[in-house]
Amino acid sequence: MADSSYDWFEPLYARANGDTAQVPWALPTATVYLTNWLAQNKIDGTGLAAVVVGCGLGDDAEALAAAGFMVTAFDVSASAIAWAKKRFPQSAVDYVVADVFALPAGWLNRFDLVFDFRTIQALPLSVRADVMGQIAALAKPGGTVLVITYLRDPEKILADGPPWPLSMAELTHFEDCGLSIVHKETFRQPASRFADRIRIQYQAPYP
Ligand SMILES: C[S@@+](CC[C@H](N)C(=O)[O-])C[C@H]1O[C@@H](n2cnc3c(N)ncnc32)[C@H](O)[C@@H]1O
Repeated sequence: MADSSYDWFEPLYARANGDTAQVPWALPTATVYLTNWLAQNKIDGTGLAAVVVGCGLGDDAEALAAAGFMVTAFDVSASAIAWAKKRFPQSAVDYVVADVFALPAGWLNRFDLVFDFRTIQALPLSVRADVMGQIAALAKPGGTVLVITYLRDPEKILADGPPWPLSMAELTHFEDCGLSIVHKETFRQPASRFADRIRIQYQAPYP
């Protein structure tokens, strides 16, 4: 499903040409919402497979690899993937160019941990349910899906994105996909244009 809702990412990464300041979302470190989750839950990924959706420059994938996971990290942008490999030349992460809307068949129901930070919200509402369904489909039975995203007030009309922060109502689509909420936590960063954030840990169903 190649479409204009996401074909602008590749030229943006290509134009940035190695300058993280030219990538509006590049931190460029692992997000604390992931590193805190790993530390607080004393997560040991040894022997477990994780996948990072829309991995961008790779920092979150590296944090998961440091926690012991065997990590596959994918992005639709070939320039982002090449850049991530260049940033982390010794990495154990398998960086792959792939489209979340056309996942390799071998990835379905395969991963112990599926991680997404800010990919869903980077895609327009017209594909929101599709991308959430694709993310859920990566988890093996009983596996964990960890989603961190910005939230919007459902009463507010969405200003032009991206990003298009999610509403709580939209997030319930993961439960429609069969996932159960294990834990959720909201955060507030008053100084940010996107003040409200949420981290939700789901579990995929057993057959
Ligand atoms: C806002 S960026 C977030 C990057 C990274 N997750 C982070 O938080 O720093 C969204 C990422 O999703 C990727 N992306 C967009 N559409 C995609 C698709 N259809 N399949 C895979 N990745 C996609 C973009 O190339 C971009 O790297």
